[in-house]
Amino acid sequence: MSLFAEWVNKPEFIGEYNPLRQLSRAEIEKGYEKSSLERGEFIIEEKDGSKIGYVWHFTTVHSAMKLLEIGYFLVPSQTGKGYCSEAAKIMVDYLFLSKDIVRIQAHTDLRNVASQKVLEKVGFRKEGIIRRSIFIRGEWRDARLYSILREEWKGLRILIKTP
Ligand SMILES: CC(C)(COP(=O)(O)OP(=O)(O)OC[C@H]1O[C@@H](n2cnc3c(N)ncnc32)[C@H](O)[C@@H]1OP(=O)(O)O)[C@@H](O)C(=O)NCCC(=O)NCCS
Repeated sequence: MSLFAEWVNKPEFIGEYNPLRQLSRAEIEKGYEKSSLERGEFIIEEKDGSKIGYVWHFTTVHSAMKLLEIGYFLVPSQTGKGYCSEAAKIMVDYLFLSKDIVRIQAHTDLRNVASQKVLEKVGFRKEGIIRRSIFIRGEWRDARLYSILREEWKGLRILIKTP
């Protein structure tokens, strides 16, 4: 939580395609308590244990819809090395292996090419444009919605199910 609180307030970490926020640790904790969303968060680590990013999943609509959404960010010094694609693949494996869901989705700013490449490398497909969906840096921006269906998930990629 303290690492997340530190990262989420830094513009260089959240990038130019996410809203700028300044949240205290207490405000973040309060948000978690108030929220009815089911969510799970994981830190992305290098082999030596250094913490380089976050990947998370959450419900966006009614839980009966059997879908989850994912998000992610990396510390700026570690982008462009394939780490996020690997973390997102592991997340997709984990979610399809452990949750009763039919799809995983992600929204990304139309201009966020790096994020769209990550999703395409993991096997997500473009679904459409969600118009004026998020207010960033003084303007309403369009997002692209991506998804991967359980039947499109090509079996186990990185994670292996153990009995
Ligand atoms: C989006 C983000 C997580 C990508 O992480 P990453 O580890 O760099 O991703 P990967 O290295 O796995 O793949 C990124 C791909 O995008 C490409 N890329 C990176 N920046 C790019 C840019 N500005 N324009 C075009 N392509 C770009 C990389 O070359 C790579 O493509 P390749 O595999 O064909 O070489 C990272 O840039 C980030 O944390 N951004 C800020 C937060 C954010 O935008 N989160 C997503 C919100 S939806």
